Amino acid sequence: MTFDLKGKDTQSNARAGVLTTDHGIIETPIFMPVGTVGTVKGVHQRELKEEVNPDIILGNTYHLYLRPQIDVLEKAGGLHKFMNWDRNILTDSGGYQVYSLSANRKIKEEGVKFKSHIDGSYHFFTPENVMEIQRSIGADIIMAFDECTPYPCDYNYAKRSMHMTHRWLDRCISHLDKTPLKYDYSQAFFPIVQGSTYKDLRKQSAEYIANAGAVGNAIGGLSVGEPAEEMYAMTEVVTAILPEDKPRYLMGVGTPINILENIALGVDMFDCVMPTRNARNGMLFTAHGTINIKNLKWREDFSPIDEMGMTFVDTEYSKAYLRHLFSVNELLAKQIATIHNLGFYMWMVREARKHILAGDFRTWKDKLVKQMDKRL
Ligand code: GUN
Repeated sequence: MTFDLKGKDTQSNARAGVLTTDHGIIETPIFMPVGTVGTVKGVHQRELKEEVNPDIILGNTYHLYLRPQIDVLEKAGGLHKFMNWDRNILTDSGGYQVYSLSANRKIKEEGVKFKSHIDGSYHFFTPENVMEIQRSIGADIIMAFDECTPYPCDYNYAKRSMHMTHRWLDRCISHLDKTPLKYDYSQAFFPIVQGSTYKDLRKQSAEYIANAGAVGNAIGGLSVGEPAEEMYAMTEVVTAILPEDKPRYLMGVGTPINILENIALGVDMFDCVMPTRNARNGMLFTAHGTINIKNLKWREDFSPIDEMGMTFVDTEYSKAYLRHLFSVNELLAKQIATIHNLGFYMWMVREARKHILAGDFRTWKDKLVKQMDKRL
């Protein structure tokens, strides 16, 4: 994988770059739609490609390991072939899902014992087996196995956990060196900075991660309930230390405003369930604020879903029609809302890129943030 910086904003730390892997190029800043179990929920791969058009999507080791299970993915020839997606995929390591989804998890130095949220069966993840599982899934970018601390988090716990994440990183790296690729393309490995909301720990962790010399680096443990200002403060500390010439991925973030503010701080890659999950509950993101399309106020509003028309659903359907589909609980409601929200997130990061290259990102970002910060 290579990363070429193409431009920097003059009034902030925002950057525009191009990541190249064996599955094609990824123009940054990028938002990666979440496809947890091998599908971006409610969107056909053809629509995803032709309408939303992301260069990369995300899958989850935790979910794919539980279902369809690794032997099936290996027999299919990897996740790309299984789901018929020939562009890039990144897999998260399970270092977040194990903590957020499974019951009765026990974290030890060796690894994490957890109970499946599906059938209650017990499993054990270690830095070593998570690397092997990610080799079998076959994503283009694979993540270190880490512990994502909750918020708030006691200082001593955060410190001990961060050191364990660093030791786990060393184990991931030495095991990956011994684990051959399963398919005929390469995989890039990203380590993850932790350290909760403590500046000194974040600094220490960023230095450790930078020293690992990986081709890209991630920031974890944020967007777990802390105030946005605290998240930005942590990103700022970390991006000042992570190497300039490598992509930086902020995991699990966030709202459109969170993404723009973090781009300004020098982050290149994002993923979040928000545009897809919230779409299924009737929340639409637009450049003028968020809409609850289930609201009575849209009952007779026959104007297009979004006049900006980022995808076909925006101009082909009205707000009143989409509200009706939600009120009668039709499947199409969720599909339309998901395509709209993903189209909006992709529009936003593409515009961000254009403005970074034009040198007026900061001015554009400040205006859009103000404009989006309302409920319609
Ligand atoms: N997704 C969101 N936050 C995190 C994190 O801290 N670690 C991992 N592995 N995934 C995440």
